[in-house]
Amino acid sequence: MNKKYDIESAILKNCIVAKDTIAMEFHAPQIAQNVLPGQFVMVETPTKFLRRPLSVAGVDGNRITLIIRKVGEGTKILTSLRRNTRLKMLGPLGNSFPKIDGRKILVAGGIGIAPLLLYANCFPKNSDFVYGEKNSEYLLDENYLPKNIKISTDDGSRGFAGNVCDLSRTLEHAPILACGPEPMLAEVINIAAEWNVPAFVSLESRMACGFGVCNGCAIETTQGFKKICTDGPVFPAEILIFSI
Ligand SMILES: Cc1cc2nc3c(=O)[nH]c(=O)nc-3n(C[C@H](O)[C@H](O)[C@H](O)COP(=O)(O)OP(=O)(O)OC[C@H]3O[C@@H](n4cnc5c(N)ncnc54)[C@H](O)[C@@H]3O)c2cc1C
Ligand code: FES
Repeated sequence: MNKKYDIESAILKNCIVAKDTIAMEFHAPQIAQNVLPGQFVMVETPTKFLRRPLSVAGVDGNRITLIIRKVGEGTKILTSLRRNTRLKMLGPLGNSFPKIDGRKILVAGGIGIAPLLLYANCFPKNSDFVYGEKNSEYLLDENYLPKNIKISTDDGSRGFAGNVCDLSRTLEHAPILACGPEPMLAEVINIAAEWNVPAFVSLESRMACGFGVCNGCAIETTQGFKKICTDGPVFPAEILIFSI
């Protein structure tokens, strides 16, 4: 198992990067030097008992970037914090996306783009990167996106009109790495099966501990129960059972 670090770090920079979405930078040398694309950190959320899982979206020297979208109470608190606020965080946690040397397609739905940004940065060659949001307000600031990314919006307000799976279907077949909402991941798995290519998808769940102790994130797979926090969050498509 990879070594994990429980650190306390101040918010060095925070900026709005889309509707309800903040990018935050932290000085976190141990995490920055050890994190692999797809791994996450459990971040202290002031006034809440439980930390929240957040993917590492970027690494720059000894700094890491997290991109946080407001969906509930915890992320509302996190996205409202000011610069210099100190937070505890534990990581890097979980497994990572596999390194694929040949051509591959990165498929990101909504805030699921976070771990794939780090992947694209670490392995910039031979990738098509597609990214979908429901409308242009939620698209990340282009300074946070790779130049060649292909965008879709459900309402057609920018880029390809339709969902990110429809956009993916227009591309030449290749192995797929994906992160996003469950219905999108289920469709990605269908596409991979139709194309007869491997797919690796990053799953989400509510997490209490983040390191395998509470069993709160267990899912059933064709290989028995797996914990999203330690066996995942990245799983090969062929072992997953989706009930959508
Ligand atoms: C491995 C991993 C990496 C993640 N990376 C990021 C990231 O980089 N950026 C980011 O913004 N978010 C990320 N998330 C999701 C983030 O952890 C949740 O949005 C957050 O924990 C919600 O907390 P809350 O208190 O705001 O919401 P709550 O008040 O707990 O819930 C609000 C609503 O969101 C739903 N919800 C809560 N958590 C999840 C979840 N994990 N999956 C699906 N629905 C959920 C609830 O059912 C509810 O409807 C990640 C989750 C995991 C498991
Ligand atoms: S979150 Fe506790 S075991 Fe996964």
